[in-house]
Amino acid sequence: MGFSTDCIHAGNEPEPATGSVSFPIYQTSTYVQEGLGQNRGFDYARTVNPTRSRLEENLTVLEGGAGAKAFASGMAAITAISTFVKQGEHVVCSNMTYGGTYRYYTKILARYGVTFDFVDTSDPAAVERAIRPETRMLHLESPTNPTMRLADIARLSELAHRVGAIVVVDNTFASPYLQQPLSLGADIVMHSTTKFLGGHSDTVGGVAIAKTKEHVEWLGFVQNSSGAILSPMDSFLVLRGIKTLVVRMERHEENGRKVAEHLAKHPKIKQVHYPGLPSHPEHALAKKQMRGFGAMISFDLGSLEAAGAFLAKVRLCSLGESLGGVETLISHPASMTHGSIPEEERNRLGVTPGLVRISVGIEDAADILADLDQAFA
Ligand SMILES: Cc1ncc(COP(=O)(O)O)c(C=O)c1O
Repeated sequence: MGFSTDCIHAGNEPEPATGSVSFPIYQTSTYVQEGLGQNRGFDYARTVNPTRSRLEENLTVLEGGAGAKAFASGMAAITAISTFVKQGEHVVCSNMTYGGTYRYYTKILARYGVTFDFVDTSDPAAVERAIRPETRMLHLESPTNPTMRLADIARLSELAHRVGAIVVVDNTFASPYLQQPLSLGADIVMHSTTKFLGGHSDTVGGVAIAKTKEHVEWLGFVQNSSGAILSPMDSFLVLRGIKTLVVRMERHEENGRKVAEHLAKHPKIKQVHYPGLPSHPEHALAKKQMRGFGAMISFDLGSLEAAGAFLAKVRLCSLGESLGGVETLISHPASMTHGSIPEEERNRLGVTPGLVRISVGIEDAADILADLDQAFA
């Protein structure tokens, strides 16, 4: 079926016992068993929960994978995926990822004998140089958080596969509506479902979708063994959010373009990062690899003082961490989402004190623009 139909119907058949169109929240910890070794496919709710299974089936279809596993947060999904890597192995990672990913890799996984190279994944030659025979994983974020650089997923997948490394794409910023990494050559795609998939800033969760059955089985084993499962209520909220993903993304996209074009013309702004602008270094790649350019934009106001003064004045746009909700959210990456990256490294990567990130919501574009303008004034 078409993507919109799949959003609404994939994995979402009415519940068989009553015909309930909205699949119920199975708020249970266990299931009565008919006898020793006899059950209806459900034994314990960490292992399997019907509401979570429906969400996993839905996302398997939307990303075109062999299966999906849902976790308690985006970071829990990244942690589960990282178990594909063992002591002595090596990971190549985008040098511009969500700060929590960088923190987990450098402060936790590195303690277990895994080594990392953080490179500019918008440059295939840099990735090629970093890949070694012991490289087991290439972790890409495209677009990157918060500088909006793109990685050529098809080309980089080819490079990683030469040494047998798996390619993981954090697709949180794009959502499966804008980009489907598995079809471009990646092996695993993950999302913080907290963002565009949930869509309403009312749930925290994560998901990993894999292309092969073997990878899905391992992720399921890790999900059950380490236990960071997505709750039934959160599974329901994400499943419900996805039903309107297409209409939300269309509006996010329309508003995102208007805001980016407006900002690009503004005399107080030094630089606007948005893949939909012809000035963006990967604009051509964005047109090839994505269905649209999305609603994530960052821009540089030149100094911490200017950014602080601007952020204190916005009224409709809410100052807060996170993104992808129906409401416009605005943040200061250097002190918020990317505070865990050392200052020198942040500056080198363009996460400057004056950088502001905006997740453009689906309000009336004129109201968003008016709010930004009054704050600039
Ligand atoms: C691109 C990206 N990946 C992963 C995460 C982590 O997700 P969560 O906050 O659900 O753990 C975030 C959170 O902001 C993110 O922006």
